[in-house]
Amino acid sequence: MLGLDAIQSKVDTINAGTSYIEDIPSSRLGPLVEKGLVRATTSWDALRAVDAILICLPTPLTEHREPDLSAVLGAAESLAQRLRPGHLVVLESTTYPGTTREELAPVLQRSGLTAGKDFHLAFSPERVDPGRTDWTTATTPKVVGGLTPECTRRAMELYGLACETLVPVTSPEVAELTKLLENIFRSVNIALVNELAMLCDRMDIDVWDVIDAAASKPFGFMPFRPGPGLGGHCIPIDPFYLTWKAREFDLHTEFIELAGKVNSQMPQFCVTKVGRALNSRRKALNGSRVLVMGISYKADVNDTRESPSLRIIELLQADGAHVEYHDPHVPELPKLGMASIDMTAEALAGYDVVVVVTAHSGVDWEMVARESSLVVDLRNVVPAVDGKVWKL
Ligand SMILES: NC(=O)c1ccc[n+]([C@@H]2O[C@H](COP(=O)([O-])OP(=O)(O)OC[C@H]3O[C@@H](n4cnc5c(N)ncnc54)[C@H](O)[C@@H]3O)[C@@H](O)[C@H]2O)c1
Repeated sequence: MLGLDAIQSKVDTINAGTSYIEDIPSSRLGPLVEKGLVRATTSWDALRAVDAILICLPTPLTEHREPDLSAVLGAAESLAQRLRPGHLVVLESTTYPGTTREELAPVLQRSGLTAGKDFHLAFSPERVDPGRTDWTTATTPKVVGGLTPECTRRAMELYGLACETLVPVTSPEVAELTKLLENIFRSVNIALVNELAMLCDRMDIDVWDVIDAAASKPFGFMPFRPGPGLGGHCIPIDPFYLTWKAREFDLHTEFIELAGKVNSQMPQFCVTKVGRALNSRRKALNGSRVLVMGISYKADVNDTRESPSLRIIELLQADGAHVEYHDPHVPELPKLGMASIDMTAEALAGYDVVVVVTAHSGVDWEMVARESSLVVDLRNVVPAVDGKVWKL
């Protein structure tokens, strides 16, 4: 297997048998590199030697919140110069329906070869959930939609080597929209419980108890938990790929917009709650020492992209708080000039309030409850102590 990346240091790290991805231990990668089964390169020419090319490049939003396909289409241009008959190309990056057929195929066809005839083209979304161990790339069903039935068959032949279950669909558009539906489903349901959390706060009802009780229903309900807002590079971003495309069809995707609005209010709501907790101790945010626990956007990963923790720190600092953080997965935050502090009993006792934003496993939450003077727990992991532990 050959990996192509624009960043030389990543390529060197892989070729040294070292993994920079937390989910993949070097102990697994190293032996594959040693046996010559995995290799990385920055050279596009190396693609001439392979039979199949999977494009897994970033698909962010521009500053005007429109799809930015520049990495994918730039790569397609480089690829077109090396494409040969019989090649299989599969796009895995999350994107709006129509990308594979309307955007990718024309660029690849600058090679003089026709998609679906001279080379095979398909879309198959990445379904990785970073940090997850019960479902892996091998066991998570893989959706595959080719430009033609033969494209689908060829792509399934490839993925069948690695994935236990394949889900063929009738077109790349179905596969593209499947991935967006999955992410929009999460965004909308998280927004629903976040809004409920804000209402429960006003009504003095424990939202976590409500969700747990509703989850006892064995059918027709799936629990989602509230939190400090969306993070990562998928759920906060991907839904807007569909919003953008829908405009072309004169439709406003209101669920997506509303979910985005509710979820993006959460960091502000959480900081207001921290202010209220301090107020109960006759203290103000201004001048208080605040420890933020957890910087990555979700538990047990080191990914800080779009993390609500960063927004929460920004808001706390804007209100005059002295903020420090603890996160074993994120030892440093160079952009903010901060580094993770050691979480000791003495350290915890020194803060006016401890704010639990991301609940990494292995943290001693009993100790956090015992040693801190005040806790705002946005993840419902700290044991309840009346007047001391405030839940979202
Ligand atoms: N990572 C996930 O958990 C996940 C899950 C589901 C879907 N996706 C989707 O997969 C796609 C990629 O996500 P990611 O998190 O791997 O992105 P990423 O930002 O980590 O980029 C992937 C790699 O591409 C390299 N790269 C960037 N531009 C390049 C270029 N022009 N030429 C060559 N290499 C280049 C980067 O150095 C990086 O190593 C996105 O569309 C994302 O939405 C990711």
